Amino acid sequence: MITRKQLIEEYLGFFKEKEHAIIPPSPLIPEHDPTVLFTTAGMHPLVPFLLGQPHPEGKRLADVQICLRTDDMNEVGDAYHHTFFEMLGNWSLGDYWKKEAISWSFEFLTKRLRIPVEKLAISCFGGEGKVPKDEEAAKVWMSLGIPRERIAFLGKKENWWGPAGKTGPCGPDTEMFVWIGKEKAPKEFDPKDKKWVEIWNDVFMQYNMKENGELEELKQKNVDTGMGVERVLAILNNFDDNYLTEIFAPIIKRIEELSGKKYESNKKSMRIIADHLKAATFVLAEGIPPGNKEHSYVLRRLIRRAIRHAHLLRIEKNFTKEIAKIVIRLYERDYKQLREKKNFILDEIEREENKFKNTLKTGLKYFEKISKGKKEISGKEAFLLYQSYGFPIEMTLELAREKGVEVNTKEFEKEYEKHRELSRTATKGKFKAGLADTKERTIKLHTATHLLLAALRKVLGKKIVQKGSNITSERLRFDFNFDRKLTNEEIKKIEGIVNEKISEGLQVRREEMTLEEAKKLNALGTFEHKYGEKVSVYFIGERGKEFSIEICAGPHVENTRELGHFRIIKQESVGAGIRRIKATLEEK
Ligand code: SER
Repeated sequence: MITRKQLIEEYLGFFKEKEHAIIPPSPLIPEHDPTVLFTTAGMHPLVPFLLGQPHPEGKRLADVQICLRTDDMNEVGDAYHHTFFEMLGNWSLGDYWKKEAISWSFEFLTKRLRIPVEKLAISCFGGEGKVPKDEEAAKVWMSLGIPRERIAFLGKKENWWGPAGKTGPCGPDTEMFVWIGKEKAPKEFDPKDKKWVEIWNDVFMQYNMKENGELEELKQKNVDTGMGVERVLAILNNFDDNYLTEIFAPIIKRIEELSGKKYESNKKSMRIIADHLKAATFVLAEGIPPGNKEHSYVLRRLIRRAIRHAHLLRIEKNFTKEIAKIVIRLYERDYKQLREKKNFILDEIEREENKFKNTLKTGLKYFEKISKGKKEISGKEAFLLYQSYGFPIEMTLELAREKGVEVNTKEFEKEYEKHRELSRTATKGKFKAGLADTKERTIKLHTATHLLLAALRKVLGKKIVQKGSNITSERLRFDFNFDRKLTNEEIKKIEGIVNEKISEGLQVRREEMTLEEAKKLNALGTFEHKYGEKVSVYFIGERGKEFSIEICAGPHVENTRELGHFRIIKQESVGAGIRRIKATLEEK
């Protein structure tokens, strides 16, 4: 028996022994990466460092990272798919390479987790396009005692990872599999045999995918590994179902109580409810309410799909809050945002439930009517389900699939556009867009954000601090503590100061130091719990006379002259005592 806590401690402890800095997890919503909605892998927050930006904690890192993947939301319902999960990972930023990475993976699996070598199998990249077969990785595995028959060479579909978006770091990988059958593992590894379960992935990130699809060699060769906590817990505790592990069992038990039904005969719906509401709780913990755009829309889909499946189980009373409470209890020790946002989470999840509960039943009746004896549901009907009954299009598609009916999605999109709410396509675009293509503009806006904060403090006073920040390639969004509307003069003054600092052509300098040292310099910082032992501090302006000093991971431009013209496009209130500014940079 091994618990989640023991597994995480064992993993991080092991890599600490191998001289890795243990870094704190990043938020579920990337702060400065507009190209994806959610953090989808442990490597994701590390992209700038994988591309060469120095990391303040060094070249060897390890962590456990919360991730959300919505691509295969429809797969959730089987024994091991999830939208939300925790990923253990270790990284070499241009430091160690295949031999060390593989040897440590082997040592951790066989010595620490005590998985017998006889139960291990490996896949390596078999070569495709310009990238050759990874004999180097296979040789290391064999030197450690993995027999050749237990190593399969597969193509790009199986043994290549990344980039996370359209562009960015990527490379061949080697995956580790564990035999979960009761009988002895076969001599030869057959990757198609479902009893071989993938447990870990070592990616050798030696390429950068460019926008035109070409691969270029990275100057810095990195290792990126990822191991899913849920899956490993199930394997090590001899469960063939992730939902039986301690991080799901209490949720499933509560769903059984609420529905008066047994998990055994209602697995699919119960798994969907458990997974989706866990994910929803973590998204809500970022302060995001359900809605029709981007993160809010994904959140709405998660909650509403869970409610639909609760309806199938005939759960009548409000239940989402009950599940969220268990999720908070399970994870609050490690993720304090769950504790801090507890009221918000419980209020918002129930509000969404109340909103949807009433229209769900009448919407389902309407669905029955329009689908009865039909081959296809028209786009107009699907839009009505969306507009009047609150059915996300994905829910209508799911219902239609279950009934063997088609949906005219093209027409639906048209209807949707007509109503000028293009969020769905916008969301889709985000998942597909690359990580690095809009990089330059976001870097500039990021530096502009530092100038803005310093300017705000000059104009409105030293009590102003950052309460939130989000950057897309079009604009920056900055939240700060202030309890009234800014006057036009104040806005003009702030813009003026930022533009003055831009035209002064100030140097942007980066230094590494301990958090204590940074504080002594009065460096501004926000989310203290996120900082590791060492931090990067960015200085803007002449040494000793800096205009801005902030703790920040970067990256930033080298000189403010690169920024162009700064313009505030909007100010608004976002809750008691918090104001929001949206601003952009224009060509001069
Ligand atoms: N990025 C790889 C994955 O997500 C390894 O961490 O599997």
